[in-house]
Amino acid sequence: MKTIIEPFRIKTVEPIRMTTEEERRRFIKEADYNLFSLKSEDVLIDLLTDSGTGAMSTNQWAALMRGDESYAGSPSYYRFEAAVKDLMPFKHVIPTHQGRAAEQILTSVIADGHGKGKIVPNNTHFDTTRANFEDAGIDARDLVIAEGLDTALEYPFKGNMDLEKLEQLLAVEADNIPMVEITITNNAGGGQPVSMANIRGAKAICDKYGKPLIIDSARFAENAYFIKLREDGYQDTSVKEIVREIFSHADGMTMSAKKDGFSNMGGWLALNDDEWAEKARARLIMTEGFPTYGGLSGRDMECLAVGLEEIVDEDYLQYRIRSIQYINEGLDALGVPVMKPAGGHAIFIDAKKMLPHIDPLQYPGQALAVALYIQGGIRTVEIGSLMFGRQTDGSEKPASMELVRMAMPRRMYTQAQADYIIECFEELRNNTSKIPGLRITWEPSSLRHFTAKLSPIQRRRPTI
Ligand code: F0G
Repeated sequence: MKTIIEPFRIKTVEPIRMTTEEERRRFIKEADYNLFSLKSEDVLIDLLTDSGTGAMSTNQWAALMRGDESYAGSPSYYRFEAAVKDLMPFKHVIPTHQGRAAEQILTSVIADGHGKGKIVPNNTHFDTTRANFEDAGIDARDLVIAEGLDTALEYPFKGNMDLEKLEQLLAVEADNIPMVEITITNNAGGGQPVSMANIRGAKAICDKYGKPLIIDSARFAENAYFIKLREDGYQDTSVKEIVREIFSHADGMTMSAKKDGFSNMGGWLALNDDEWAEKARARLIMTEGFPTYGGLSGRDMECLAVGLEEIVDEDYLQYRIRSIQYINEGLDALGVPVMKPAGGHAIFIDAKKMLPHIDPLQYPGQALAVALYIQGGIRTVEIGSLMFGRQTDGSEKPASMELVRMAMPRRMYTQAQADYIIECFEELRNNTSKIPGLRITWEPSSLRHFTAKLSPIQRRRPTI
């Protein structure tokens, strides 16, 4: 059979509310042209994020009832810990309420009160990872391969770290580098995978300089499935074995379980080093909770333990990757400049190419995201100069790419809904020259894309 179908059936449904274009123009204006400020009830298809938004399975809902809410030593923690160690055999597993809490704790361990002057290289830091490091004075350096920055280039592992640059950096700055990080899949770089060879190569360089390799693992299962599909020698290896090999090359991991943990909330920090783990647990108790629950309730840990078994199911992963490709191909056929090949969790549109009349500092990605909402009630997120343009010294610089991300929640939307998304672009593409750029009318001092207020730059005949 050639057709890949959703490997599940629907047991509970959640209605979504239809709105008119006129209503949506009003809602987005009231939200100051920031899609984070919309009420989710006013969104038809919510592709803002794939984080914590997926559908739980019947087995996860059943496990929820087994949650033991004891403050210390809950059996739910031990089931969670065993499920993590089954895939990622690290010595210490430290639960947190979500990924960024694990990042914050790890940052406090490596900064050790003196972050300034330290550097952490990564293929591409995700925004909260970067913000945590920068907040501690650490320089967050992106070293993704050049192929990863060319949205139209078909290349199997566009998330790879540039190992030559990593080696050069370590040769000069080793004393200032407390750890090296790799993000799988590379979210900020288009959800593109990292190859096993690249992880192995990074580990060899880390070993040469005596540095730990930490993996930011939010979408580890999608990355492992890409390795199975695309990397020589892995076609006959199970995804579970590939996952185990990935983590065997690392000294630790941070995890947002809201993605490939099939969980609505959760995360963890895992480490092999006893001294780092001790410092991390001390910080955990101060900020998250006791080491056998971190920031989680027992029922969250039960759902997570089941989610980790389900996420490495290859029928699920085949459907997951195919459903993203399906939309990517549909948009490509319409001439929409999508990132190629499709990433693991999202479709990325190159807004610089789609709206060439908008200057990068008038935020073409945000302008496209606003237009998509008005067109069809679809909520997406800009990953471009609104998110990354503001520098630590307060100046403004265009980001390397102006992307709009359509992140697909897991096990959530159907193929008819995917066709609707494609149709919205079909309607939109003839009017792109009328989409206006935006200017910021208010912004906070950091992570501005979440709360900034914007306004369309009015031209002679306003269109929004
Ligand atoms: N690392 C990566 C690669 C991520 O994509 C995220 C979150 C985090 C860390 C932080 O985890 O949200 O659990 O605190 N990404 C979400 C997104 C928010 O929409 O891509 P968190």
